[in-house]
Amino acid sequence: MPDAPELYHLKNGAEADIAAFPLLHGSVGYDAVDVRKLLGDASLLTFDPSFTSTASCRSAITYIDGDKGILLHRGYPIDVLAEKASYLEVTYLLLFGELPTKDELATFNKDITYHTMVHEQLMRFFTGFPRDAHPMAVMLGVVGALSAFYPDSTDVFDPRQRIVSIHRLIAKMPTIAAMAYKNSVGQPFVYPQNKLSYAENFLTMMFSVPAEPYTVNPVFAKAVNALMIVQADHEQNASTSTVRTVGSSRANPFACIAAGIASLWGPIHGGANEAVVVMLQEIGHKSRIPEFIKKAKDKDDPFRLMGFGHRVYKSYDPRAKVMQKICDEVLEQIPNGDPLLELARELERVVLQDEYFATRKLYPNVDYYSGIVMRAIGIPMPMFTPMFALARTAGWLAQWKEMLEDPEQRIARPRQLYVGEPMRDFPPIARRMAHERNQHPPSLPMPGEAKIVGG
Ligand code: SDX
Repeated sequence: MPDAPELYHLKNGAEADIAAFPLLHGSVGYDAVDVRKLLGDASLLTFDPSFTSTASCRSAITYIDGDKGILLHRGYPIDVLAEKASYLEVTYLLLFGELPTKDELATFNKDITYHTMVHEQLMRFFTGFPRDAHPMAVMLGVVGALSAFYPDSTDVFDPRQRIVSIHRLIAKMPTIAAMAYKNSVGQPFVYPQNKLSYAENFLTMMFSVPAEPYTVNPVFAKAVNALMIVQADHEQNASTSTVRTVGSSRANPFACIAAGIASLWGPIHGGANEAVVVMLQEIGHKSRIPEFIKKAKDKDDPFRLMGFGHRVYKSYDPRAKVMQKICDEVLEQIPNGDPLLELARELERVVLQDEYFATRKLYPNVDYYSGIVMRAIGIPMPMFTPMFALARTAGWLAQWKEMLEDPEQRIARPRQLYVGEPMRDFPPIARRMAHERNQHPPSLPMPGEAKIVGG
């Protein structure tokens, strides 16, 4: 780090500097131009509508090198963590910056284990949802309501309450996700068991029934553990940025995580794992791959190849490589395998050879194989994104905690490039002209009203 900050000179053509801004250096990766004084010094804003070139914070949690396909959590490569660590070990690492010692992990496991049950009155929440409600709608509603049941850990200015709410959320997300599933299939809720690991507990709450004993398949438990690790955190993605933004107003942690769930639900973010399986089922057979490749290239067709492409990775997503390996291990447990995996492999082979995708650097991302892994384990498709949400809760909370502890962070309040009307007089109604662009949206048919076609 140089003593005097290097200055980045903003010039107006060949004229003198408009202003000069410090150049900030990270420990690895891109440098950043510190533009915090741009408005004050030069009455200028930066324009970056989807934040492709904007660093919103300093963070020490996750580093991604999109060109090299590298993903590090506190310096440790994702494939090593997925192979050697438990999800709670990685959660501890994300939250506190170091891998836990044996005693620290034992304490953390206990802190989480003894918070896995939910308030008994929450049961009524689940039965209030229609059976066919998407589990993400249920998780969104239930997690957002948790502050009503745990008001003693909502004061974000109290470090102790922050840690208690972190324990509660990490512990309860699998219980809530499994309850959303049980409610949808009309089976009784299954209580967590303190003797089980985090992944074993989730599978037991999902698939056991009171009528018979249930034994967790250790290969499936290992797969769920790895799946949660690869989905635990990913720098400033859409849902994490949402959690940081909501947290910047000092909203309670349960509201922040509910906001993260809402954002992750989007079909081009966390909803993609479900969309990948739907897409593969729609393709059906490798003979139809060319037809879908053509659709994906057609600018007039909104169809995109789900599970491909990424804002940051311009090479193979390292998480997809981990998931591909887990796929092989899990599918060995399935007598006839899964034809979707063969189709997925063939589609990947064709895409990676196609110049259109190569020039746009579109490779499989984390969602491409994760859906197939979950399907092989028996997790139903509507539960794919809830799985992603419960895994990402570790990263959301680590980033939320880092934001609250960062003295540079204040309430998030971006500006805009205003392109609307300048000030104008108020016209009396008699002088107003109907304008094409002001057409009111077509009225939606009332419930039960026949839709008039071509009317
Ligand atoms: C996740 O941010 C994160 O880290 C997210 C995530 C995490 O862990 O939090 O990694 C999780 O969300 C993974 C991504 C899952 N989504 C999908 O698989 C949906 C399909 N992918 C695309 O929607 C898209 O690739 C995005 C949303 C992932 C990225 O979109 P960008 O960065 O805005 O890219 P773009 O839309 O600007 O695309 C660039 C070009 C375009 O073509 P041109 O206009 O240059 O001709 O690539 C094309 C796009 O049309 N393109 C695709 C494509 N993705 C991009 N064409 C076909 N199929 C695709 N999947």
